[in-house]
Amino acid sequence: TQPLGNEVLTKSASGLSDRNFPRAYQAAFRPLPKLAPYEVSWDDGVRVEKYSVSARAGMAQILPTMQTPVIGYNGMVPGPTISVDRGTRVHLRVRNKLEGLQYPDHEQHSHSSGLYLSTHLHGHASLPEFDGYADDRTAPGFCKDYVYENDQPARSIWYHDHATHLTTRNVYSGLAAQYHIHDEAERALLPQGEFDVAMTLSDIMFEADGRARFDDKDHSGLWGDVILVNGQPWPVMKVQRRVYRIRLLNGSISRSYKPYLSTGHAVHMVATDGGLMPATQSVTSWRHAPAERYEFLIDFTKYAPGTQVRLLNASNDKNVDFDHTNKIMAFQVTDAPVDTSDPTWKTIPQTLVPSDVMSLKTSQSSRTRYLQLKKSDVTNIWNINETTWADVIASGYTKVLADPALGAVEMWDLHTSSGGWFHPLHIHLVDFQIVSRNGRAPFAWERGPKDVAYVGPDEKVRVLMRFDREGRYMVHCHNLPHEDHDMMGQFRVGQPGDPDPHDPITAVEP
Ligand code: C2O
Ligand code: CU
Repeated sequence: TQPLGNEVLTKSASGLSDRNFPRAYQAAFRPLPKLAPYEVSWDDGVRVEKYSVSARAGMAQILPTMQTPVIGYNGMVPGPTISVDRGTRVHLRVRNKLEGLQYPDHEQHSHSSGLYLSTHLHGHASLPEFDGYADDRTAPGFCKDYVYENDQPARSIWYHDHATHLTTRNVYSGLAAQYHIHDEAERALLPQGEFDVAMTLSDIMFEADGRARFDDKDHSGLWGDVILVNGQPWPVMKVQRRVYRIRLLNGSISRSYKPYLSTGHAVHMVATDGGLMPATQSVTSWRHAPAERYEFLIDFTKYAPGTQVRLLNASNDKNVDFDHTNKIMAFQVTDAPVDTSDPTWKTIPQTLVPSDVMSLKTSQSSRTRYLQLKKSDVTNIWNINETTWADVIASGYTKVLADPALGAVEMWDLHTSSGGWFHPLHIHLVDFQIVSRNGRAPFAWERGPKDVAYVGPDEKVRVLMRFDREGRYMVHCHNLPHEDHDMMGQFRVGQPGDPDPHDPITAVEP
């Protein structure tokens, strides 16, 4: 049988003893670092916040006794979170400080003196020139200013590197971070502040000297044997006896998870990739593919102080060392006093917010398209409808998989048909509604606005969306070795004029 997202394991190097290789819930949970704006101003009534990050090399303490070289935004892994109110315009300057860096045994860009970058922010956010188009690369020593209006509803999104054929290496090295948009609706319903906890999952394997081991199994995927939460292996987090909101991003390269609580209790899903769901969905487990975000509430009021509630992964792979990949993290319930004047301390709201995309009806769709996700029988390369990113480049960036009119509502059928593989498909620009899976209702946890669809083996997922910005945008598998080799195409909305979205003129000198 073919490997699935969480079903293949390449182990870390032997030679990592128990002394330098943690086994269970030893590390303390670390909140994600936050990024502060370096300048705040007003433009015609719009609040403008300016941020700057430098992509550069750094060291991370993941193993107890050894350091791991990384490449991160400001040298940090995971990168620093940007958190803004809806309606705030953000200028994000990304500096490329990767002069002279080279990935070992990697043939791309061997002519250059460093690594190229392009930065994508998920979540219906960007004009084409700020969308991290894979070939709109910023050269080493240069920087680019990205502008985001943040006029969409509250949501948990993330920014990460997207450079052509380098995305796997750049993201595995650490170039990824969360980005949160807040608004009134979400503030009125859900826990805030220290009870609103963002978590990024990733997985890694190690060389005996502490470096990250790279093996993408001939472009099928990279599956580490150590699960990290916010860069820490299997951490433990102290919690009060109250309701917590968890924003969980799967930032893994290829691994999908089936998380569940060791107590068997449900979590209460309140938001998906594109923000609040119309109604809360209580589930005891869910499939969580790379790039998907799920926000859920955990009710710790029901546990006695001292209880350890573990978040586990229901991997079903026979080859996996369960001690390593079936655990994600643990919550340690404490007897710390709870502020009961905060109404969210014990509230699980049931009715949330009906967003535009979740109110779309299939009858509004003007067109149904078919996207087949598979490995070519001819070339043996991952593709969408037999198109690869190399084909897009060869066409001078004119080849498209779809050409919806501006404002059009369309239905796309996403279908994986090559034996046993799953593909988490990400469509840039839009939020979409999952209408059906193999003709049946979508899973409870995915009944909210999405930008990544988990398309399982032999599944056909029908999604519905409106295209409300002109330009060319990418669509690709978010198993990153698939994206890089070469399961990525683009669609064109309307008839965009110059400048072309891929034109790298917007890269500016530092
Ligand atoms: Cu998360 Cu096109 O990427
Ligand atoms: Cu794929």
